Amino acid sequence: MDTVYSVVGLGKLGASMAAAIASRGFQVIGVDINRRAVEAVNAGHAPVRETGLEELITAHKQRLRATMDHYEAIANSDVTFVVVPTPSDERGAFSLQYAAWAFRKIGYALKEKKGYHLVVLTSTVLPGSTRYGLLPILEKVSGKRCGVDFGLCYSPEFIALGSVIRDFLNPDFTLIGEYDEKSGSLLESTYARILENNAPCYRMSFENAELAKIAVNTFVTMKITFANMLADLCERIPGGNIDAVTQALGADQRIGPKYLKGSLGYGGPCFPRDNIALSFFARAVDTAAELAETTDRINRALPAKIVERLKPFFHKGATVAVLGLAYKPFSHVVEESQGIYLAKTLADIGFRVVGYDPLAAESARIELRDQAVVLDSLEECLNQAEVVIIATPDPVFRRLTLADLQDRNVETVVDCWRILEKELKGHSIRYITIGQNINDEESQARLIKLWLTDANSDT
Ligand SMILES: NC(=O)c1ccc[n+]([C@@H]2O[C@H](COP(=O)([O-])OP(=O)(O)OC[C@H]3O[C@@H](n4cnc5c(N)ncnc54)[C@H](O)[C@@H]3O)[C@@H](O)[C@H]2O)c1
Repeated sequence: MDTVYSVVGLGKLGASMAAAIASRGFQVIGVDINRRAVEAVNAGHAPVRETGLEELITAHKQRLRATMDHYEAIANSDVTFVVVPTPSDERGAFSLQYAAWAFRKIGYALKEKKGYHLVVLTSTVLPGSTRYGLLPILEKVSGKRCGVDFGLCYSPEFIALGSVIRDFLNPDFTLIGEYDEKSGSLLESTYARILENNAPCYRMSFENAELAKIAVNTFVTMKITFANMLADLCERIPGGNIDAVTQALGADQRIGPKYLKGSLGYGGPCFPRDNIALSFFARAVDTAAELAETTDRINRALPAKIVERLKPFFHKGATVAVLGLAYKPFSHVVEESQGIYLAKTLADIGFRVVGYDPLAAESARIELRDQAVVLDSLEECLNQAEVVIIATPDPVFRRLTLADLQDRNVETVVDCWRILEKELKGHSIRYITIGQNINDEESQARLIKLWLTDANSDT
């Protein structure tokens, strides 16, 4: 008989994993404590918004069902993925509160279950959590032994919201932290059957895998922040152009071109919290993750720094339109979004702020409350604006033309991602970007002062 899978936690990641596994021909039982999520899946609908999820669940509903009963799901499956929240706690660590509760439920089910069962923790946790925080719960509650009666792996996913299904089925690699050889081999062969590509599998101890997971995210954010640092420097050298610099930099194979744009900072539910958690963990083990701390500090300071640079170009009392309020295009998530931070900073210093986002209007309205007016149409937003800030490289904004802006009252466009350079640069509207100099003369004067020596001076 084919392996049956259960997925505990039908949220943004878990629901997509459950549907993706079902789409590969396996029976999947989803478990959630949220009745609405369970009912949605059983009715053939997506419990959360994610690209392609609704279609996938509808197409494979004969192989996917959901329940609120952990016991029943564990009893009727062979492998269980645990994908519950691990929210940041007041120390900046990832809380094990939900995972511990789920492991207790799984432990009760294992107590009664005959035969071997593999438990896979997918939720992001800090080093030591699986072995010292969660494994003891399974052993104590079930009265059984890991490595004998059941297996345990820590195997996080490297997915981006908006492409969770594609990323899960086609990862660059899979990462397995294993209790023992048997648990790791079973999960490796599971991935070989489920995934669409032949991704290499890296197997290691729980602790190394826990560190590797958070290392990936914190490295990427460090790279983004490095490019943003260069963008700042480009704004201060004559003819400075971040795209010219990063194009060369990214061609070096040791570096690579991805996440090297030079623009606004990173945001969303994952990246910002990971640097904080790594910093917490380093302190907890008597050292300091200074690169993670600095990356976080620079990223948090960026919106205020950008507004400080732009402020002199906006006339007092101007209405500023922030286009792009989600943390990235094709997303409705506004958590730690740079567009939201820019809007709040501008409102705090007295500008009237209006905003538009193709998907995130509802959540942006809650986030911005009385600080900005979130409008339902891009046209209405542009109608009210004297200054336009493009905060995400959404295709909707890429299609804006000079006429769209000129025919209205728009005086200045701040193009953070340089998506309208060809269309707007050199025309009557003032065009400002991140990472390009807007005051060559002043920068030149500064460099002359820096480098003109007695030997090459005429005087
Ligand atoms: N969303 C991402 O982009 C992403 C990426 C990589 C890793 N992760 C990690 O995956 C984990 C889950 O993230 P998410 O974004 O899917 O969370 P989420 O909040 O969208 O979903 C979690 C789901 O778990 C359910 N749940 C909570 N406790 C439960 C329990 N005891 N039994 C059954 N269901 C329970 C909740 O009702 C919810 O539906 C987190 O650790 C997160 O860090 C998420």
